[in-house]
Amino acid sequence: ERLPGLLRAMPKAELHIHIEGTLEPEMIFALAQRNGLRLPYASVQELRSAYAFSNLQSFLDVYYAGASVLLHEQDFYDLARAYLARAARDKVLHAEIFFDPQTHTARGVAMETVVNGLHRACADARTESGISAALILCFLRHLSEASAFETLEQAGPLRDRIVGVGLDSSEQGHPPEKFARVFARCRELGLRLVAHAGEEGPPAYIWGALDALKVERIDHGVQAVHDAALMRRLAQERIALTVCPLSNHRLRVFPELAQHNLRQLLDAGLAATVNSDDPAYFGGYVNENFTQVFAATGLTVRHAYQLAFNSFEASFAGTAEKRAWE
Ligand code: HPA
Ligand code: ZN
Repeated sequence: ERLPGLLRAMPKAELHIHIEGTLEPEMIFALAQRNGLRLPYASVQELRSAYAFSNLQSFLDVYYAGASVLLHEQDFYDLARAYLARAARDKVLHAEIFFDPQTHTARGVAMETVVNGLHRACADARTESGISAALILCFLRHLSEASAFETLEQAGPLRDRIVGVGLDSSEQGHPPEKFARVFARCRELGLRLVAHAGEEGPPAYIWGALDALKVERIDHGVQAVHDAALMRRLAQERIALTVCPLSNHRLRVFPELAQHNLRQLLDAGLAATVNSDDPAYFGGYVNENFTQVFAATGLTVRHAYQLAFNSFEASFAGTAEKRAWE
């Protein structure tokens, strides 16, 4: 088959990747040992067998527990270097990497430890393999507005190492409006804005992300298909959706991958992209997301080109970089 070969070989940007979600079980064990921590799992296989999720929250509990082995700047550096090397093999030319500082600062890890480690990894990867990468700070939506403001304050001195901010964690019960004032402040600071919305939550949360937060992209957004007026707006304004097929499957948003609505989104003219979300937990990096969703839903070569184009168009890379990719 020539389609899987094309999907793997085509240049792409990855716009929805949580760096803590690239923490492979082997690295969890290696970092636990390096940092003198005891894990509640006897082996890599035992840990991996805990990766059976029923919804977003059941995943988040395991994901935050895994991230607790990250303590030192070198840990964040090693994590991001490993991801960027893996992404380069999938023909990712540009990655916009989410990180969750609150899950680290809550454990006593300093903001600068996190950001400096990740930033140094991005710089070294660029020098060595040419991949470009940018960092997006995500606020945890299950925490308070005050905690988000405090996090933004802590990131102030590191402002030039961050391209934008996002919003992630438990969606239901935490509508975007909760963070309207935080995002307004981020906008004043010149940060680019994205938010998870419509992963499990209703179309109203996508409207909220657009109107209350003024985001430029929607992370996931697959629930938009239940609202025709929203679909028209997303298409008309070319608001990108960073779709994550294997994540949606593993978290039971679509119990079967064949039920995924990526084709419906693309055929309605939306600027959808394909991404891996948390590949260490969901069974595949970005090329695996492409090949599996194409095989399961019958997408075509035309869709492949559209997805690759959309990923570069929706990225926050500078105009010089975008010109170089043409
Ligand atoms: N949704 C919300 N929060 C997250 C996700 C996700 O898919 N991955 C990591 N944090
Ligand atoms: Zn995500």
